[in-house]
Amino acid sequence: MDHFLYRNGHLHAEDVAIAEIAEAVGTPFYVYSTATLERHYRLFKDALEGIDNTVCYAMKANSNQAVLTLLAGLGAGMDVVSGGEYARAIAAGCPPEKIVFSGVGKTRAEMEMALRGGVRQFNVESEPEMRALSQVASDLGVTAPITIRVNPDVDARTHEKIATGKSENKFGIPIARAVEVYAEAARLPGLEVVGIDVHIGSQLVELEPFEQAYRKVADLTRTLRAEGHDIRRLDLGGGLGIPYARSNSAPPLPTEYGALIKACVGDLDVEVEIEPGRLIAGNAGLLVTQVIYVKEGEGRDFLILDAAMNDLIRPAMYGAYHDIDPVVETSPGTDQRPYDIVGPVCESGDTFARARDMPPLAAGDLVAFRSAGAYGAVMASEYNTRPLIPEILVKDDQFAVIRARPTFDEMINRDILPKWL
Ligand code: LLP
Repeated sequence: MDHFLYRNGHLHAEDVAIAEIAEAVGTPFYVYSTATLERHYRLFKDALEGIDNTVCYAMKANSNQAVLTLLAGLGAGMDVVSGGEYARAIAAGCPPEKIVFSGVGKTRAEMEMALRGGVRQFNVESEPEMRALSQVASDLGVTAPITIRVNPDVDARTHEKIATGKSENKFGIPIARAVEVYAEAARLPGLEVVGIDVHIGSQLVELEPFEQAYRKVADLTRTLRAEGHDIRRLDLGGGLGIPYARSNSAPPLPTEYGALIKACVGDLDVEVEIEPGRLIAGNAGLLVTQVIYVKEGEGRDFLILDAAMNDLIRPAMYGAYHDIDPVVETSPGTDQRPYDIVGPVCESGDTFARARDMPPLAAGDLVAFRSAGAYGAVMASEYNTRPLIPEILVKDDQFAVIRARPTFDEMINRDILPKWL
């Protein structure tokens, strides 16, 4: 169910008109739907019903404290990849026993922070990291629960920058070496092996790569158990893709993904964890922006928006496609025309779409980028000294600013002049 629909010709987020929010906070801004976030979390819970499971939201997708508090309130665990994300999870009220610490380069300080505060497990990604964690835990006189992330050498068939499960990627240990590495883990002080972790990439639009990876992990579970390890937990990562373009076929649904998980590991008597990020937050958010100018170019027209690559970097970084809709609904039969849709930042990479068919638009019109709730605000920067844009959360007919736009003074005053200037 889409909670961003036109009503009487005006785009709404749940029961709030987008134009009303624009009026109140100015553009550009991100807006998120509570109902969508809740629904997406529940889709995963329902899909895994019948097996012992924890859905650990990968907060890297959207770590606004209000979003985290909402999800933690529904019972979600959290997948964190930095001390900062760990602190956010705790501040959002997520119980430490539901926080999974992932990431390829955890520092000793981060390990110590999570060991002191409590953690469900560390997903260890290399032998040096495993030895460091052993030392940190031993020095604190505690035991660190761990899984080891294995790299199954599976092609996730997604964008190269977000594929993680091939042997050439920096993630995890080669699955072929798992027996050896688990043996060392069992010998090291301060560590307790609790399971296996795998994550092969993001925005996967087919189930087959998951199946290949999960079957390898199921085999490894049997092998490691035969070696005497108590493998009782499988972290199966995130990565299920979302539909970005209305015109494309939709990726598999969480129910199908859940059924696959059950088919691959359901007979192993394990706790299952998953770490979805994009599917929970992606289609729960829009980026709303205003047309500043329509510029006639050589053989093409440009729509110059007040949002730019610093606000939403996905198109510039991955060539990502986002549907872009006018906030005032186009009447049926209106002729579309192609525009290059760009931001005001001083580089040609600041292009959201080329030759995109849109209804005729004029300066002052609002447009909304769909599927912008994940990897949007979190990847934003203040490049060109453009303030980080506000984030808004809608619930039914209410909306609230959940991160305010900083003033120019606030931005400037974050810098510190040395005493000699
Ligand atoms: N678990 C681990 C260990 C991860 O590295 C990731 C994502 C996830 C879970 C969540 O994956 P998801 O369910 O969101 O696909 N900035 C990129 C995406 C980077 C994904 C990084 N890792 C983008 O905008 O497409």
